[in-house]
Amino acid sequence: MLNTKLIDKYNRNLNYLRISITDRCNLKCIYCAPHNLVPKLPYKEILSYEEILRIVKVGVRLGISKVRITGGEPLVRKGVFQFLKQLTEIEGLIDISLTTNGVLLKDNIEKIKATGIERINISVDTLYREKFIQITGHDLFDNVWEGIELAQKMGFNPIKLNVVPLKGVNEDELIDIARLSFIYPFHIRFIEYMPMGGNKTEKDRHLLAPEIKRRISPLGQLIAVEKKSNDGPAERFKFETALGEIGFIRPISQHFCNTCNRLRLSASGRLRPCLLSDYQEDIKTRLRKGCSDKELSEMFFKAVRKKPSEHNLTYDNSTGISTQMSTIGG
Ligand code: 5AD
Repeated sequence: MLNTKLIDKYNRNLNYLRISITDRCNLKCIYCAPHNLVPKLPYKEILSYEEILRIVKVGVRLGISKVRITGGEPLVRKGVFQFLKQLTEIEGLIDISLTTNGVLLKDNIEKIKATGIERINISVDTLYREKFIQITGHDLFDNVWEGIELAQKMGFNPIKLNVVPLKGVNEDELIDIARLSFIYPFHIRFIEYMPMGGNKTEKDRHLLAPEIKRRISPLGQLIAVEKKSNDGPAERFKFETALGEIGFIRPISQHFCNTCNRLRLSASGRLRPCLLSDYQEDIKTRLRKGCSDKELSEMFFKAVRKKPSEHNLTYDNSTGISTQMSTIGG
């Protein structure tokens, strides 16, 4: 029988689509868009909301049940709240979440709440204003922190804080960041730095999960939290008396490709079966030539067939992945 779901040749069920709705961002984080190498897409090259919604609806018929909206920074795109609302109205999507850098959270938290989205990931790599400027190029730490606190007061749950530990940048405060899990119910997620898209020269900045664990170990013993079936790739832990959790996303020190259930749609309308491979399927061109839903489905299947068994990103990006993170949204 023909496969009607997005199941790849390694029997992974790809039911999770991450969608970058813009390549624009109001920050310039050193690990994400370090040298501003890639020029911005002309507006007409960015998928319209209607186009994204059509692609999602086709994906849902093929088994996509979970969607995350990313960027660039998704909240800088005009009309985003109405789009999010429309997404939540798609039958069959059971989990819709948002990744944001938090800068625009505090001014828009009510609007986000009104869309029905409850799960937000916020990127925050430091608790110091000066260092925030060093990492992001902008003096906006207070905005982000106010946004995080407000999101918590408004009942968003879970709130995940994404932290990319980097030697010589934020390594001295990993323990303070981990300590936040005692005071707030946040899920702190340490993400191993992935060298890609021209980040090659910064390989000496890596801090891998075992070392991060060692550095936060004075806070107590990390107790494993049982994973649920819809969980992402994070290894989950908790300090005994903490309200929140500590997670590790380990693309380098212990890749999780065998359980990867993700596809990605870039703002430029490319479907990517692997974050850490440059292969992508150009959906937009066919879509704009008026292709049918059946043809769209075929493009999904083609991307699924090309999903590699595992990524081959190494410590120093010697495999030369050229795509910049800021264009895919992590
Ligand atoms: N390595 C690891 N994580 C990264 N992110 C962005 N660029 C990189 C990189 N080179 C993270 C951001 C964001 C998440 C979606 O991806 O911190 O929170």
